[in-house]
Amino acid sequence: MATAVRPTVLKNFINGEWVDSASGLSFEDRNPANTRELVGLFPLSTAEDVDAAVRAAAEAFEPWRLTPAPKRAEILYRAAETLVKRKDDLARDMTREMGKVLAEARGDVQEAIDMTYYMAGEGRRLFGQTTPSELPNKYAMSARQPLGVCALITPWNFPMAIPSWKIMPALVCGNTVVIKPAEDTPLSTYTLVQILAEAGLPAGVVNVVNGMGSEAGAPLVEHPDVAAVSFTGSSEVGRLVSVSCAPKLRPCHLEMGGKNILIVLEDANLDLAIEGAVWGGFGTTGQRCTAASRVAVHKKVYKEFAHRFVERVKALRVGDGLDPATDMGPCINEDQLKKVMEYVAIGKAEGAKLITGGNRLTEGNYAHGWFHEPTVFADCTPRMRIAQEEIFGPVVAVMPIDGFEQSVEIANDVPYGLSASIYTQDVNRAFAAMRDLHTGIVYVNAPTIGAEIHLPFGGTKNTGNGHREAGNAALDFYSEWKTLYIDYSNRLQRAQIDG
Ligand code: UN1
Repeated sequence: MATAVRPTVLKNFINGEWVDSASGLSFEDRNPANTRELVGLFPLSTAEDVDAAVRAAAEAFEPWRLTPAPKRAEILYRAAETLVKRKDDLARDMTREMGKVLAEARGDVQEAIDMTYYMAGEGRRLFGQTTPSELPNKYAMSARQPLGVCALITPWNFPMAIPSWKIMPALVCGNTVVIKPAEDTPLSTYTLVQILAEAGLPAGVVNVVNGMGSEAGAPLVEHPDVAAVSFTGSSEVGRLVSVSCAPKLRPCHLEMGGKNILIVLEDANLDLAIEGAVWGGFGTTGQRCTAASRVAVHKKVYKEFAHRFVERVKALRVGDGLDPATDMGPCINEDQLKKVMEYVAIGKAEGAKLITGGNRLTEGNYAHGWFHEPTVFADCTPRMRIAQEEIFGPVVAVMPIDGFEQSVEIANDVPYGLSASIYTQDVNRAFAAMRDLHTGIVYVNAPTIGAEIHLPFGGTKNTGNGHREAGNAALDFYSEWKTLYIDYSNRLQRAQIDG
């Protein structure tokens, strides 16, 4: 499907101005469904650009911190309204740069809209506590304080939603921001920030520096004037971010991989479970950290499940996400496609049974994109690499289980802990699963994907480092508590000693 639009040369956003990088060099943002289409050219930034952006954010911090939070929030409300009006165009642009099907791109923009409204609402809350003092004529309370300049590093799989998860709570708490979006999907962040600027955000409050992780991301994380870092991406890079922040005692929030299980017990509504496994495994071409990349099915229903699941997967139409007939788009880039192909080879070599897919698609309309067939391996064992490692592509490992207890053991026996899902009609086992699955998110009778923005999002073990994004939990990262004691007794009162 032809989507060719004249490529645009886009810029960094520093101190309220759209500027080129100091290097004068740029990189290409290409459509993964048709790499002949250049979506845009973006500045290839270096430490010099990062420094200018952090300086602008540091200067903007004082007046922004002193702007009343409800006033900060008014800008977010206005931005949310523009996002609503422009939703369809933004979604089309997102599909062109990221490849996900249009309905999902609309969902991604909707997630940014929801988050922007939600955090705007926080402008009139940001609740602290008031509590009695143990001493007479003394008052005690706590209030949220901003941190300063927040460095945000965002991934390509949710090009507008995830930047909004980080930017909006940071702003409403009174922080200023420098964001380095993924080099595969810079356009969505560009537009999001343009909309915030048009809504009246003062110069320097949000800055965008485009470029590669090593040349722009690393200097941003390391910059001496950054107060906190929030990163979403791979566990390998997340560990580097953590190591870089540790000697500076700099707070860092890490959101990394997943190897999420979808459990189907013998009493499950099988139609529902199959539908959930297709959506959870192949939605966004499996490129979600919440993707249902493992499916564990009770042996009593295993054969029927595997048979009917594969029929559904075979029927998925792969193609350009702008075509309304497409169910599944391409992989984001060549490296990601190669990784998928490597894991298909690994799965075969370790003896898993390839029951559908397994190949790159190269003919006809597929010739210029990073397309791969939706792929299912059956009869996997829990310790196979394809059942342990995050692939981030359209590959699902299906395995038989003997019962509920074993399914929980298998579920927890991976290095990650983002999302898990269980299909059962038995309320007792549903509650036991909610208690025993060691993940940040558990779904009952729904797939592993589909988190809503007003609840905490994040995971255990190698998925995160204890923080959560979204909902009220996000405020805990983007603010620090200040505890306030006001003594109006006019005498020295000693806590724990007097009275
Ligand atoms: C991700 O998988 O990287 O829960 C984020 C979901 C989406 C967000 C996913 N709301 O699937």
